[in-house]
Amino acid sequence: MKRIFIVKSSTATTSPNFSLRNIAGTSGRLDVICRSIINAFLVNGSIRREIEFYGVLEGPPNPPKTIFISGRELSYLPRDEVAMAKIVKHLLSGASASSGFHLLKIGFKKLVSNFKSRDFKLIYLHEKGSYIRDFNFDLNEEYCFILGGHLGLDLPSELFLFSLNIPCISLGSVKYLTSQCITIVNEFLDRLHDYK
Ligand SMILES: C[S@@+](CC[C@H](N)C(=O)[O-])C[C@H]1O[C@@H](n2cnc3c(N)ncnc32)[C@H](O)[C@@H]1O
Repeated sequence: MKRIFIVKSSTATTSPNFSLRNIAGTSGRLDVICRSIINAFLVNGSIRREIEFYGVLEGPPNPPKTIFISGRELSYLPRDEVAMAKIVKHLLSGASASSGFHLLKIGFKKLVSNFKSRDFKLIYLHEKGSYIRDFNFDLNEEYCFILGGHLGLDLPSELFLFSLNIPCISLGSVKYLTSQCITIVNEFLDRLHDYK
């Protein structure tokens, strides 16, 4: 089944004019999105084909822009952040993209609403939610996990998710990096598949 991750960054740049020598310092923390992409798709020796990733960029100068990556279409995925940022830079400049990478002019609310109306099971990840092991995952369903960037999800977006009755699920009391949360969720669901 498809596994979807949405990462929303209120600061990540929507311009290609950032430095590959100092990605974190010049891009509004697009590095968080780049690491999240690598963690979502890459396993040893292969790419997870079942994953779709949406990186919602809401920084200046032209928000929102959403990077959409489909695991089924990927022919290549870099292992390092700088090479990943190079692909994103290309994408933001409007140049032809690597296969599997797309740039959408869609914002967070519309994206989430689309998944909701298509009956995907949406989950907001936050350390104060209910513990993931107590959540009754149905392996025949398609889940869409929503995460914040380095600042966490902004309050209006959180309130929007709560207004849609999207459950809030925790990976434990430790605050992990966004990219680490993606690895933990992937590992958790892999194990459910292996042992059910
Ligand atoms: C680096 S954390 C944000 C930390 C930020 N300093 C804050 O105060 O919210 C980025 C995202 O990872 C997710 N996250 C981090 N730790 C988590 C946990 N223990 N359980 C569930 N989600 C978590 C949340 O979606 C959060 O928005």
